[in-house]
Amino acid sequence: MSQGYDGQIARACALLRAGELVAFPTETVYGLGADAGNPQAVAKIFAAKGRPADHPLIVHLASAGALTSWAREIPPAAEKLAAAFWPGPLTMILKRASGVSDQVTGGHDTVGLRVPNHPLALALLAEFAGTGHGGLAAPSANRFGRISPTTAAHVRAELGDAVAMVLDGGACAVGIESTIIDLSRGGAVLLRPGAIAAAALAQALGSKVEECGGDTADQPRVSGSLAAHYAPATPLQLVAGAALVETVAAARARGMRVAVLARRSPPRDGSDLLWHQGSAAPAGYAHDLYATLRQLDASGADLIVVEEVPDDAAWVGIADRLRRAAKGSLVQDET
Ligand code: TXA
Ligand code: MG
Repeated sequence: MSQGYDGQIARACALLRAGELVAFPTETVYGLGADAGNPQAVAKIFAAKGRPADHPLIVHLASAGALTSWAREIPPAAEKLAAAFWPGPLTMILKRASGVSDQVTGGHDTVGLRVPNHPLALALLAEFAGTGHGGLAAPSANRFGRISPTTAAHVRAELGDAVAMVLDGGACAVGIESTIIDLSRGGAVLLRPGAIAAAALAQALGSKVEECGGDTADQPRVSGSLAAHYAPATPLQLVAGAALVETVAAARARGMRVAVLARRSPPRDGSDLLWHQGSAAPAGYAHDLYATLRQLDASGADLIVVEEVPDDAAWVGIADRLRRAAKGSLVQDET
């Protein structure tokens, strides 16, 4: 039976309060939500995703006003960034409040917090919180290490019956996961690049943002920072634009079926190739990226060749995900 918008939010809330999992859209990717105040419910997230239990989750809140219930220190930097970017694709890592469970934080003394900018997510979070400050723990709604979902159909394909309900809010506007900034250690350290660039954060803060490579030994539990992540099942090779045509031709000469995600149009003799030309603008490219990778992955190709994106601040988040997708497919190949 189809339900109206309010009916769906009410049903989703009832399921969440009963300790069930509900997937919901955000502006970045779909999240797999559970009541962040219920450790048994949060445990179901790890089971559904096949995710190691020491990987911390982001708690999604209806508004920045709820921060005080989740973080024990709210530095001025957090207030500035919340005012500038929330609701929006930014996650802040802060020192956790005493009531926040180890299931959510992976045993860390910090917690990731975000107010997403999607009408359905905000309505769900507001209804779930009621007059309180409750939040939803939600990782991306994919199997661990795989491509994040940007449509409700992707969530179903990834998780099937492991999720009690999927709220359908259409395709996610941003398309790659939120920018993560760590404010728990005095300064401001970028842990995961996303649509909000380091320069924009620095401007809002009026001070420097340190850019962490992501794979450093002191950040092992930031799963989005594992070198191998966001990967299709098909091997994915990332190549410079100048080597693209040659790489594709060489793979075809070896008898491989090749699918291509390029920034340019296909060569004249490439009409039989599955060739996807990504958007010229980074926002459009990010919006389509994961759906395109899924499509190329499902095409029956033996190899996905992706043309590198510009080495430019506006493309940093996209370049990061492509690098990890290439690394991830390589790791699967070897194991
Ligand atoms: O855009 C997003 O952030 C999406 C949507 C659903 O909000 N969520 C998402 O969650 O990407 P997830 O779990 O797939 O990635 C969150 C990343 C993980 O790499 C996790 O390790 C890191 O955030 N994280 C969460 N809490 C942390 C903490 N306390 N310290 C360091 N990293 C943390
Ligand atoms: Mg994820």
